[in-house]
Amino acid sequence: MADITARLTERRNRAVPRGVANIHPLFITRAEGALLTDVDGREYIDFAGGIGVNNVGHRHPKVVAAIREQLDAYLHPCFHVMMYEPYIQLAERLNQLIPCRGEKKTMFVNSGAEAVENAIKIARYHTRRPGVVCFDNAFHGRTYLTMSLTSKVRPYKLHLGATAPAVYRAHFPYCYRCPWGLAFPQCKVYCGETYFEEDFFKHHIDADEVAAIILEPIQGEGGFITPPPGYLAQVRKVCDQHGIVMIVDEVQSGFGRTGKMFALHHFDVEADIVTSAKSLGGGLPLGAVTGTDRVLDAVHTGGLGGTFAGNPLACRAALAVLAVLESEGLLEKAEKLGQDVRKELLAFHHRYAIIGEVRGLGPMLALELVTDRTSKKPAADAAKKLTAYCREHGLIIVDCGTLGNNIRTLMPLTITAEQVAKGLRILEGGLKQIAT
Ligand SMILES: Cc1ncc(COP(=O)(O)O)c(C=O)c1O
Repeated sequence: MADITARLTERRNRAVPRGVANIHPLFITRAEGALLTDVDGREYIDFAGGIGVNNVGHRHPKVVAAIREQLDAYLHPCFHVMMYEPYIQLAERLNQLIPCRGEKKTMFVNSGAEAVENAIKIARYHTRRPGVVCFDNAFHGRTYLTMSLTSKVRPYKLHLGATAPAVYRAHFPYCYRCPWGLAFPQCKVYCGETYFEEDFFKHHIDADEVAAIILEPIQGEGGFITPPPGYLAQVRKVCDQHGIVMIVDEVQSGFGRTGKMFALHHFDVEADIVTSAKSLGGGLPLGAVTGTDRVLDAVHTGGLGGTFAGNPLACRAALAVLAVLESEGLLEKAEKLGQDVRKELLAFHHRYAIIGEVRGLGPMLALELVTDRTSKKPAADAAKKLTAYCREHGLIIVDCGTLGNNIRTLMPLTITAEQVAKGLRILEGGLKQIAT
């Protein structure tokens, strides 16, 4: 470990609890676009984007300019004390963009987890029902309620005792490891409406007691698990049949990450509530809850909010992010980036048996690593070795998956073709090494 990094690591270990994980033992000094520089002067290509936060790149000049301008005006009146236009303007913009039914409204919070917490509060209030249905492999955050919705036990839930009440977990269509052990085309009939009506609502909770079904349109931390094409429409139908609020968590998949503004656009389905965060704030903490107005307006005045919720700096940054996505044609760029990277990853799949599956939407792509393709035994150690190899060779990449055996791409959509090619060369070098 180089000098400055070693000294900072020592201080970090003395001052910060070990529970706060660090995927890479590095300290940043500068970031620009898709490049990171550490305190010892080493440069890295960024395939992690601060875990899906930097869709418009690190320190996009228009985002930085908007933040600077806001700094000179005011920082924190608190929206509950004195309102400000950027909050309203951003709500109006998200109401135009987010695929929810009918007239929409938006409220802001500080993170993805807070957005999910508020979405559940609103759904329970609106329906006056307690139940919330979430899924295997879901990730919705680390607060007590969102941790309860999150599937993975280690590291998120270990030794933390009783989780939130009235949370029920359904199987998610993880086709590579079908939870029902079904094969196509039988599976097609089973995993949506049939599963809920004939199994889930009989064994877990009656549909009339369910306030909300919450799901990620493509599961993020769970391993970029992508449901089959008609699946979300089936969940929509189940929600409609029983007056259940459909909450779609786009915290990781939103704002161009999948090659469309929201992953829901791939499925042609409208939700009742959509939660978003991460890339919305362009690097500043911001989360949003957007939904059909009669659902969002259910809660009495004062029932929603927070001191820093929708702070002016983050709202200004988010307005700039949305403008950049549009003015720089980043959705089209993301689609092309997704096609190019998928092609390369599929070629790796052809060459390296350690890759069990390549999956995802647009440039939100993952490699599922297995010890062999027949047993599909998860190769979690290989995923760790691969991320370490990549770091040592100048590429920052992160793993994911309930089984810890996926490598994912969350690079800024502004990344150059040369940076992508260089990053993929490093990734292949790592695959070659772990495959031997
Ligand atoms: C789909 C999804 N929902 C919620 C969250 C929680 O967001 P935050 O870490 O901002 O609380 C995440 C974070 O990774 C996420 O991927």
